[in-house]
Amino acid sequence: MEHIAYRHGQLSCESVSLRAVAEAVGTPAYVYSKAALLDAFGAYDRAFTDTPHLICYSVKANSTLGVLSTLAKAGAGADIVSGGELYRALRAGIPPRKIIFDGVGKTRDEMRDALKADILMFNVESMSELRALDEVAREVGTRAPVALRVNPDVDPQTHPYIATGLKTSKFGIPIDLALDSYAEAARLPGLEVVGIDMHIGSQLTKTSPFADAAARLGALVKMLRERGIVIRLLDVGGGLGIRYRDEAPPSPLDYARAVIPLIKELGVTILIEPGRSIVGNAGVLLTRVLYRKETPDKRFVVVDAAMNDLIRPALYNAYHEIRPIDERRLTSPVETADVVGPICESGDFLAKDRPLPRAEEGDLLAVMSAGAYTSVMASNYNTRPRAAEVLVDGNRYTIVRRRETYEDLVAGETVL
Ligand code: LLP
Repeated sequence: MEHIAYRHGQLSCESVSLRAVAEAVGTPAYVYSKAALLDAFGAYDRAFTDTPHLICYSVKANSTLGVLSTLAKAGAGADIVSGGELYRALRAGIPPRKIIFDGVGKTRDEMRDALKADILMFNVESMSELRALDEVAREVGTRAPVALRVNPDVDPQTHPYIATGLKTSKFGIPIDLALDSYAEAARLPGLEVVGIDMHIGSQLTKTSPFADAAARLGALVKMLRERGIVIRLLDVGGGLGIRYRDEAPPSPLDYARAVIPLIKELGVTILIEPGRSIVGNAGVLLTRVLYRKETPDKRFVVVDAAMNDLIRPALYNAYHEIRPIDERRLTSPVETADVVGPICESGDFLAKDRPLPRAEEGDLLAVMSAGAYTSVMASNYNTRPRAAEVLVDGNRYTIVRRRETYEDLVAGETVL
């Protein structure tokens, strides 16, 4: 079932009309469907059901506590990349033994907090980080469970800003150096080697790069075993794409079918770190048209959401579908317009030269596929309060994050 669809003439999230949300909560607002979140999570869980697995939802995609706690109740673990994300994951009730810590620049304080919390695994990205973690673990009086993030050098065929598995990217340890790096890891007394990790990029729309990379990792696991280093956890990262426009990404089942045969014989537990494919299409950004503006050269629809609420079009030239909330508008004459926000930058657009049914001042619009990498990338640029976030469950909704106030924005500042 489509969880975000027209019902009774209004675009609705489950059984709640987005007009009702806008009237009660105001705009801009992010609105998420709980059923869509749980369906997407369940699709992964079912796809890997016959293989020992743990789905560590990638917190960076959407870290609102209401979203995290919903996934935690469904059994999700977490992939975190900062002390802040550790704090959120624990606050949301994700068990520490289901948390893995990624990222190229973990600080010693962050390592200490994660060790004290007793997380499942640290994915280490350089030899310097490996040595630092060893020292911190010995200080704390424990051994840090580690995996090395191996850079398998495959082309994920995605936007260059979100490709991570190529030789030239800052991520991971080059696969050619992996054996030596593991040998050193195994020698360090503050570390316990438990796993191997990769993450090749985001918004991938084919399974072949995942399969190529997983095969390379599988071969490495065997070589390590020959050297007496036993890998129990194999983390394949995240990266499965979603449909924003006309992409036809593989399903979690297609993905599982491509990857599992390559690693099944290794007898490892597979860890998966999906972010976008869990939350991306579970949310919309609800906005209202402020003004229409036509010049001899261009037509603009000025809305109350801006690049501070959704930076993906400005940053990656990303496409997000825009739909009217009122279904009757779908029959309005189509015009080509830029949909822009109030921020004082030419990069502040949600859509460029987009054919859209004519939107009138006061109309409500939904920017689709706005559950992932939207609220988390929001800023207060132009002193704009961050938008409210709402989670819909059937015919009820909860404000899971209230709109910021001006007071929130200056808290912590000093007038001299
Ligand atoms: N694991 C690691 C180590 C990652 O770096 C990422 C995403 C994920 C998992 C989750 O990947 P996903 O399943 O969501 O593709 N802001 C960009 C996306 C950046 C992705 C960063 N890493 C965007 O808006 O497209």
